[in-house]
Amino acid sequence: MAHDTDQTPLLSGPAPDPAARRDRAVRAAVAQGLIGPATPVAGLLDVTGIRASAAALHAAFDAVTAPGTPVLHAFAVKATPLVPVLRLLHRAGIGAEVASPGELALARAAGVPPARTVLDSPAKTAAELREALALGIAVNADNPEELARLDTLVASAPTASPLGLRVNPQIGAGSIGALSTATATSKFGVALRDEGARAWVVRAYLDRPWLTRLHTHSGSQGVPLELMAEGVRAVHALAEEINAAAGRRQIDTLDIGGGLPVNFSSDEETPTYAAYARLLASTVPGLFDGGYGLVTEFGRSLLAKHGTTLALVEYAKESGGRPIAVTHAGVQVATRTVYAPASWPLRIAAYDAQGLPRTGPLVAQDVAGPACFAGDLLAENQKLPRIAAGDHVAALDTGAYYFAQHYSYNSLARPGVYGYADGPDGTVRFATVREPQQVEEIVAESGGALREELTGL
Ligand SMILES: Cc1ncc(COP(=O)(O)O)c(C=O)c1O
Repeated sequence: MAHDTDQTPLLSGPAPDPAARRDRAVRAAVAQGLIGPATPVAGLLDVTGIRASAAALHAAFDAVTAPGTPVLHAFAVKATPLVPVLRLLHRAGIGAEVASPGELALARAAGVPPARTVLDSPAKTAAELREALALGIAVNADNPEELARLDTLVASAPTASPLGLRVNPQIGAGSIGALSTATATSKFGVALRDEGARAWVVRAYLDRPWLTRLHTHSGSQGVPLELMAEGVRAVHALAEEINAAAGRRQIDTLDIGGGLPVNFSSDEETPTYAAYARLLASTVPGLFDGGYGLVTEFGRSLLAKHGTTLALVEYAKESGGRPIAVTHAGVQVATRTVYAPASWPLRIAAYDAQGLPRTGPLVAQDVAGPACFAGDLLAENQKLPRIAAGDHVAALDTGAYYFAQHYSYNSLARPGVYGYADGPDGTVRFATVREPQQVEEIVAESGGALREELTGL
């Protein structure tokens, strides 16, 4: 589906900022019918913003690494598992970090080469490991049992895969427990401070000359930068210890994970990659001196600010004196926010029926979703210009871990996803990233062809 026509005004003057680009895209999405009664919710992705974030990531690490240091920035596919997005990032010099057979298939479909792909999941099957090693994809083993599986595979066939071990520096939690991967009892990696663990890790490397990488990912949203940098420091110190014990630079690459948090409270993009890279350079000077190649695995920080969930307002009602906009975006596209609103508050922007920003006095309102439970709220008591039926609401900063990860409660259709950018004439152009799911597809995916299977038992 191509959407090249546009009824938004021509732009002149300097390139608009992300908020202005978003407003123009909403207006164009309404005008072009990407959103409407038949498809009352859609995901919009700002291609210009994604490219800018990829460039900022490259620039931040280029500024602190010794010339010639091999650096692979691998996008955490889980953040936005959409093939055209992975392709866009690949074209912007970003590889893929995958954590399931599905994510690996998406990265391959996007054309991300094995040498720019890293496999990291905590529950890799023997078959997955075999495939990764056959393809030459980098693998970080999670635990001693997985390392034993790698022993068998490495002994059975030659592989081009760089192999490493994930360790948990146990530096503590951030503000969101569910995303804190470096707690004392985290399920991820080898817990480095457990009794005997460090010595075991050193021995594991000395016994396996092919183990050349060391990996950590200390957490995502909610983990302070200083804590993340502490985790990287611990991993760098361990690599130095192992290399000293080996008497050679056995570990040649450090994978420092992702985790840069995102500011969900304004359009400002903070903290920046540059600030994190500078903090790493001052906390772990040896990280960037050229002694180690580097892998990063950022997800949320590359995509979150560039995604908007746009929904039609079906009704505007009141309950107990509280105005409620009943929209088509709820738990199916903003699962984390609906189930854990204190950890994942979202900014909402209100637009009128034509997709123009709503103005007027601010009124505390609920923005509700279409699902059948009381907690299905995108926002509770948020001050917005009074919303009317037929308006549109936009949940901002939802480009990562939101609309691309559909939750099929109430059999609500997966929305279409569209990338937007300025065309050569300055008007908004859309490209389809994912078609909206049709009701027939929901039936087919829900056993539609297996109707009689249970009745005959
Ligand atoms: C191993 C690993 N790397 C990278 C990431 C990406 O984290 P973020 O999206 O916070 O950058 C995750 C997220 O869960 C992860 O588990």
